[in-house]
Amino acid sequence: MSKTKTVYVCQNCGGKSPKWIGKCPYCNEWNTYVEEIEQIQHPKHQTHTQSKIQKATPQLISQITSSEDVRVDMLNNEFNRVLGGGLVSGSLVLIGGEPGIGKSTLILQIALNQHKLKTLYVSGEESAQQIKLRADRISQNSSNCYILSETLLENILLQVEEMNPDLVVIDSIQTIFSDKIESSPGSVSQVRECTSIIQRYAKETNTAFIIIGHINKEGNIAGPKALEHIVDTVLQFEGDTNYLYRILRSAKNRFGSTSEIGIFEMQNTGLREVLNPSELLLSHSDEQLSGVAISSTIEGIRPFLIEVQSLVSTAAYGIPQRSSTGFDLRRLSMLLAVLEKRAGFRLSTKDVFLNIAGGIKVDDPAIDMAVICAVLSSNHDLFIPRTVCFSGEVGLTGEIRPVTRIEQRIGEAQKLGFEEIYISKYNRKGIDFSKYEIKIHFIGKVDELFRRLFGK
Ligand code: TYD
Ligand code: MG
Repeated sequence: MSKTKTVYVCQNCGGKSPKWIGKCPYCNEWNTYVEEIEQIQHPKHQTHTQSKIQKATPQLISQITSSEDVRVDMLNNEFNRVLGGGLVSGSLVLIGGEPGIGKSTLILQIALNQHKLKTLYVSGEESAQQIKLRADRISQNSSNCYILSETLLENILLQVEEMNPDLVVIDSIQTIFSDKIESSPGSVSQVRECTSIIQRYAKETNTAFIIIGHINKEGNIAGPKALEHIVDTVLQFEGDTNYLYRILRSAKNRFGSTSEIGIFEMQNTGLREVLNPSELLLSHSDEQLSGVAISSTIEGIRPFLIEVQSLVSTAAYGIPQRSSTGFDLRRLSMLLAVLEKRAGFRLSTKDVFLNIAGGIKVDDPAIDMAVICAVLSSNHDLFIPRTVCFSGEVGLTGEIRPVTRIEQRIGEAQKLGFEEIYISKYNRKGIDFSKYEIKIHFIGKVDELFRRLFGK
């Protein structure tokens, strides 16, 4: 027997309250509480998936055998890389992103691409005919991919049980509902409960699940706190719809690193993997323009070169504007303050705009040096040759700080035909630089960088 009662649930974080409240005490959001029906289940009343749980006994860790080939090759280099080397069987991957960014396209493409694996693509958003149209467009037709248009979770799991696929895709979790819960599809209770049922099922049957989730206006997947701890891996698919590039990042990964990114380009025939991101992130203009500096950065384990563009102009109105795309605005303010205080550049009355080319976001601190060079280049209207690149962090005292894996950064710059690279002089220790053909400048301070670069 089950008893029902109503509770108020925060649609952002999943916090609960017996009565309506305006501000959530857990996530401090306003107006997020919605009434939902909560069902308290008697322990004897079990769902069909629960009934299969076997009693577990403790095992000695040394006696547990780990099989080597638990990772399944997704036949897509970028996707494999973000997962940490392939999809772990029995794992639950959540992929989130804004509407229209290409989540369905990416996952359908991956499902169609599998020749050996039996895949089931469950869509609660599109009909089988619509998916077929998309599949024709991507034109990778596999005979092993099944399509199911269904929204009731219990029916989906029945089909999965019957079919026994290796990979199940759920597009999207917000359209799926379980009849055990009375709140409407898409509500936090439904999404959370459906995800936990899927997680249990995946673990018991060793089936891998990829679920697609929409993100809310803050950029979180339907109450992040509510879902992130249930799933094994959380991937974010992002990009500017104005650009063709899409970046897949991992925000949580039980089976791999979270610093990896995968880069794709949206084409007419689906998403193309971008294996050499430097080619795409550098603009190919031959003109010598001021305000452009190139940085050798590393995201995850991959080095690539990225272009930083800046525009510095005299503020037209009283308060100077600072704006940045792809780079932390507070860090930009800090770098400008360092330039002002430590090197005497007058920037406090100037508007400063900064842009990382290609619509990509960079967290690597090694980009600092390219940022200040782009700013100074624009401020003094002196161009930096396109054969020069930078890799160094800038400290509050104006010193150029060393960065990790400098050899990889220099190697990538050399491979791409750069002739000069500026790095921190503190990166010198223990590395044999004579093996490089590229000219390496070792810099200690910001003002020294300016002198060496522009000869002033
Ligand atoms: P979609 O996968 O439906 O996005 P999501 O599932 O994240 O909402 O992608 C929608 C966009 O992708 C749509 O605007 C059209 C575009 N698109 C292409 O440019 N090329 C293609 O081959 C496909 C299938 C879609
Ligand atoms: Mg979709």
